[in-house]
Amino acid sequence: MKRGIFISIEGPDGSGKSTQISNIKKFFEDKNLEIVFTREPGGTAIGDRIREILLDNNCKEMDYMTEAMLYAASRAQHVSQVIKPALAAGKIVICDRFVDSSMAYQGYGRRLGESVSVINSYAVAGCMPDVTFLMKLDPGIGKRRVSSRNQEDRLESEKVDFHQEVYNGYLQLEKDNPDRIFGIDASRGIEEIRDDIYKKLEEVLSGVIK
Ligand code: ADP
Ligand code: TYD
Repeated sequence: MKRGIFISIEGPDGSGKSTQISNIKKFFEDKNLEIVFTREPGGTAIGDRIREILLDNNCKEMDYMTEAMLYAASRAQHVSQVIKPALAAGKIVICDRFVDSSMAYQGYGRRLGESVSVINSYAVAGCMPDVTFLMKLDPGIGKRRVSSRNQEDRLESEKVDFHQEVYNGYLQLEKDNPDRIFGIDASRGIEEIRDDIYKKLEEVLSGVIK
């Protein structure tokens, strides 16, 4: 099967993902390489409807397992409808959050542990990123950076302890997946971070994914 390149971006809220996604888009544009940009939860019409439920502040009573399954359901649709076909067509797919978000937020943050990887093994169906950029930033700093942003969604409005657990989860995932997850010190300046990402992308393009 013809295979494109699959890149995901992860990290706490406010860690600079969107900022660096703009840089990543520019990296490929400058090379005249077409990309498919997408995000989770969402990325499809069905996924966007699931996203509304997940982020709705009126759904505070949501059971954690329901939450994990809804993220996985959105992902299953996204993988089958968007990501797999794009990769099969040899395209470069850039995804704002993917399965590591579930491992960090639901697995560690909600303490659902191993069940989250089991559910998600069905959702991703073997389709994993070639490289994942993890924006490493203390969640408290991320929260301050976005404090002026519009109203917090259901996940963002969780307590500091939850966001710290999520962040510790991300650091553990980085340790467990050194070949795939590329950790970035996101407390530095935007250009410095961009330069690290561009270096890694050059490696990915030349087929040296380390
Ligand atoms: P995310 O998509 O992870 O929520 P954003 O890219 O939207 O994060 O960044 C959150 C805020 O922090 C924005 O106001 C952005 O301009 C700012 N920001 C992004 N990167 C940096 C950085 N390296 N240093 C300081 N502020 C940053
Ligand atoms: P979003 O607005 O996309 O957040 P951000 O701008 O920070 O990327 O909202 C997605 C929220 O959902 C975010 O708080 C992280 C959370 N999330 C999970 O808890 N599990 C998941 O599997 C995914 C994809 C996201």
